[in-house]
Amino acid sequence: MIIKQAVVDALNTQLKSEFSASAQYIAIAIYFDEESLPDLAGFFYRQSEEERMHAMKIVRFMLDAGAKPLIPSLPEMKNQFEGASNAVQFALAQEMKVTDEINNLVSVASAENDYASQQFLQWFVTEQVEEVASMTTLLQTIKHAAGNLLFVEDFVRRIAQAATVAAEPAA
Ligand SMILES: [Fe+2]
Ligand SMILES: [Fe+2]
Repeated sequence: MIIKQAVVDALNTQLKSEFSASAQYIAIAIYFDEESLPDLAGFFYRQSEEERMHAMKIVRFMLDAGAKPLIPSLPEMKNQFEGASNAVQFALAQEMKVTDEINNLVSVASAENDYASQQFLQWFVTEQVEEVASMTTLLQTIKHAAGNLLFVEDFVRRIAQAATVAAEPAA
């Protein structure tokens, strides 16, 4: 094993957070799906896939480093929301919490002089900036829409389309 045990323990804790976030985003997507807001639902289904990808990135890194990833049991999820802004506020709080966790993880790796883990974690540091920014923007958009969630649907569809176009290779 080429990474430090304290870091392995912290990575396993982070695995739980990422898998939890993935499940929680499905619960939020279901809330919007039931409200017949398919674009907001799609946004959170995609977010859920991303969180699963974060978890799998950690699994891959741990295996490559000779450490054992432990698949955790998940905590209770929140399935009831008092409106769109309540659901997105909850998602934003979750992203803020994960950002703190990633920062702590970097501190542990740094205290242990575990440079491989530090290097690996840099991707997550950058990713969290994006995650918090996009969730903050979504929350602001809901506020601006002042109750008309069809404006928010429009906005979410446009950013999803822009992301698809950006991901396509230039003709
Ligand atoms: Fe994540
Ligand atoms: Fe996230």
